[in-house]
Amino acid sequence: MNQVSTQHGTKLRPAGGTLRWLVGKAPWNQASAAGRAAGKVFPPLAPDLHPFLGHLPALRRSRVGILVDGMNQAGDTFRIQVPWMHATVFTDPEHVKTILQLRHENFGKQTRGFDQLRIFLGNGLLTSEGSFWLRQRRIAQPAFHKARLAGFARGMVKAAEDMADAWARRTDPEIDVSKQMMAVTLRIVSETLLGRDVSAEADHVGTAITALLENVQARMTLPVDVPLHWPTPLNRSYHRAADVIDRVVLDMIAARRKESGRHDDLLAMLIEARDEETGEAMDDRQLRDEVMTIFMAGHETTANALAWTFHLLSLHPTVRERLDAELAAVLGGRSPTIEDLPQLAYTKQIVQESMRLYPPAWVIGRNVVADDEIGGYFLPKGTLAFVSPYLTHRNPRVWDNPEGFDPDRFSPERSAGRHPFAFFPFGGGPRLCIGNGFAMMEAQLLLATFAQRFHLDMVPGHRVVPEPMITLRPKGALPMRLVPR
Ligand code: HEM
Repeated sequence: MNQVSTQHGTKLRPAGGTLRWLVGKAPWNQASAAGRAAGKVFPPLAPDLHPFLGHLPALRRSRVGILVDGMNQAGDTFRIQVPWMHATVFTDPEHVKTILQLRHENFGKQTRGFDQLRIFLGNGLLTSEGSFWLRQRRIAQPAFHKARLAGFARGMVKAAEDMADAWARRTDPEIDVSKQMMAVTLRIVSETLLGRDVSAEADHVGTAITALLENVQARMTLPVDVPLHWPTPLNRSYHRAADVIDRVVLDMIAARRKESGRHDDLLAMLIEARDEETGEAMDDRQLRDEVMTIFMAGHETTANALAWTFHLLSLHPTVRERLDAELAAVLGGRSPTIEDLPQLAYTKQIVQESMRLYPPAWVIGRNVVADDEIGGYFLPKGTLAFVSPYLTHRNPRVWDNPEGFDPDRFSPERSAGRHPFAFFPFGGGPRLCIGNGFAMMEAQLLLATFAQRFHLDMVPGHRVVPEPMITLRPKGALPMRLVPR
């Protein structure tokens, strides 16, 4: 395709060639052609475009790099394209609001990314849509109400204290913070919401989850979907990992069915829910999908947020000193409780600032259901729209000194008047993360518990590299040294 720059962006012109003719038959190109004919304006392309492969080589080099270059060089809205996908990336908070909230009906979850997640999450809360999703969301919502969350605080602190006790008994001061945070958040989500402690299997489950995420990521970058029953190495590794997690989740459900009536948690709500019209309960398949979704979405993200927080604290001693001072003043060495949370304001700001720089859900994709226009740019039906907390949180037109770590920017004074979608680590609109209150409370309590007992220092020589998979994790392990306080 040839581009013609205009005052407002770039218009597309059709070009010749058989390959291009074939690609031109794709639905998004048909819609784009109609847009061109109608004189619509398309946003500029991100830099580093290969003539045939589009941004594929650049994406393979660095998924985040190409997006950051797009924002810095092309502006707040830009396009990326590979032969099988055209996407518009929006980084302006008002545009993010339009997509996630104001016109959310036109931005659906029928994307390849969500299709890959559906392979193992099935039709659970994160991946379902429409009236079915709404019904399931209403069933699950009460488990996340404020009054219920309060009841989880003690369990969260107990899990963190048990882990800190285990740290204190260690002879080797070096730990893998990513792995440790994964284990403690796994215990918390399974105990509080699903009524079962799976800590004994944390290692096993953690390895399987990492393998699954890597697998899903690898599938997303393939040009075509490979059927799961083909005996490819990718499929075999998928089945190995999925079997481990499936077994844990199905055991959880089976155990609960035997002891029904004795629990009052999310799993109980899901099992006891009855369809208003038919009176039917959720079938085993649906129950498995919902539990799998909570199990996966409910710990990996929070674990990454905490891992990034400890990394940032080790790089910013003055922030850590202020954290220590707040913990000493509010807690004086005792365990934090739910009542302490309002006083642990700086602790919360540290978590927020860490999620600004390293939002675990770093990119959110949607399919454009019908032709649309945002910010003067045409969005053809069948293309993708991406919003990215990572980009908006680092957009220099939205934030002062965006690369700096400054928890004070979340103080009430400095937050006043900020666009609600300038910071959106939990998404927004009707599909806002159902676990956002749970996650914030958990992160605040865990940070307070661990930081009171230990400083975590960088291991000299270890380079921390962000790995943007489905979630943004530190690549490989995050080794840090425990320093008792
Ligand atoms: C720091 C931690 C977390 C982050 C950054 C995070 C982020 C997100 C984001 C961005 C979405 C929206 C996705 C979209 O619009 O496509 C989402 C949805 C969701 N999250 Fe979280 N999440 C976190 C913790 C949790 C926890 C603790 C739970 C459960 C216990 C959870 C369960 C879910 C579910 C079920 C959805 C789908 C909700 C729906 O569409 O109705 N998340 N999360």
